[in-house]
Amino acid sequence: MGYTIHYNGKDYDCGDTETVLDALLRHGESVPYSCKAGVCHSCLMQALKGQPTEASQAGLKETLKQRNFFLPCSCVPQVDMTVALAGEAELHHVSAEVIDKTPLNAHIMRVRLRPEGEFSYHAGQFVNFFRDESVVRSYSLASVPALEDFLELHVQRLPGGQLSPWIHDQLAVGDKVMLSEALGDCFYTRRDPAQPLLFIGTGSGLAPLYGIVRDALQQGHRGPIYLYHGTRSREEIYLVDELRELAAAHDNVHYQPCLSREEAAGFAHGRANEIALERHPDLKGWRAYLCGNPNMVEASKKKIFLAGAALGDIFADAFVHS
Ligand SMILES: Cc1cc2nc3c(=O)[nH]c(=O)nc-3n(C[C@H](O)[C@H](O)[C@H](O)COP(=O)(O)OP(=O)(O)OC[C@H]3O[C@@H](n4cnc5c(N)ncnc54)[C@H](O)[C@@H]3O)c2cc1C
Ligand code: FES
Repeated sequence: MGYTIHYNGKDYDCGDTETVLDALLRHGESVPYSCKAGVCHSCLMQALKGQPTEASQAGLKETLKQRNFFLPCSCVPQVDMTVALAGEAELHHVSAEVIDKTPLNAHIMRVRLRPEGEFSYHAGQFVNFFRDESVVRSYSLASVPALEDFLELHVQRLPGGQLSPWIHDQLAVGDKVMLSEALGDCFYTRRDPAQPLLFIGTGSGLAPLYGIVRDALQQGHRGPIYLYHGTRSREEIYLVDELRELAAAHDNVHYQPCLSREEAAGFAHGRANEIALERHPDLKGWRAYLCGNPNMVEASKKKIFLAGAALGDIFADAFVHS
């Protein structure tokens, strides 16, 4: 059965359990998307006819909801719909120039960008990075607006991927790229400067944490800050010296790099989330930030809640890809 989706002057059938995005892609339409999980907002559309489902509007601003904007990757339609891509007014695209590209190890490229015009953000939020109109991926902001006049991304190469190898190999200093506005709620707010903070990241999940930790310090956070960063091996981990220096310069910062498949002096052996939870079994009153591997993020969220942290004190960005 299913319903009919009217898009771009054509009618397309959409299966019973199919999302609007999957139906459009199956019919050969080229529409932007990235996570397919309702996280990145890169697929934003407007329903011109037919009410979008509640699930497909979760996390959108109230003003967008009222105008029937929705995320087609999360919308299994319950009525026939006429849909259109979101316009520039809703997407707030910004052009930015690549001002630096530096490898942080064999897998991670640090990319620094200077936006043309005003760009407001919090360290730890993410931007959608456009290679062209349809290839778009999310990257987290490792820079701190009060400290740096550029945006910093840490991009891990996923072999065979559409965008990360292109960023590593093709993107050049001086190139102009298109970014979305900053999105997401994984950032520091100074509501209790004495609260203990726990940060757990895997791989390039360090990017937002590197920004948030430095932002918290810059905003005068006094409570203990524990940062656990995990990779499989020594050659995958990065920013170790910089983070050791940061910890040496601040009594309240404790940094623990972790390797799950290798033993090495100065590194804990095991998964970062398991080591963190073993060392901090009681997290009542703590705030936690989790970024990187989606399985790690989901499993840790539950465990941190069970260890006593309030749900509203757990911030997470799972680096889901489609
Ligand atoms: C909120 C958020 C923040 C993020 N922040 C960061 C960040 O700071 N740094 C970072 O590095 N990443 C981050 N990511 C992940 C990032 O958005 C991309 O998903 C990642 O870079 C991969 O993109 P890609 O285009 O290179 O790979 P994709 O083209 O998306 O492919 C991903 C992987 O799947 C494989 N693949 C693709 N198609 C198929 C297929 N048909 N069959 C089998 N395998 C397939 C590819 O080979 C590749 O290994 C974030 C994601 C989210 C949602
Ligand atoms: S929110 Fe739809 S693709 Fe990410």
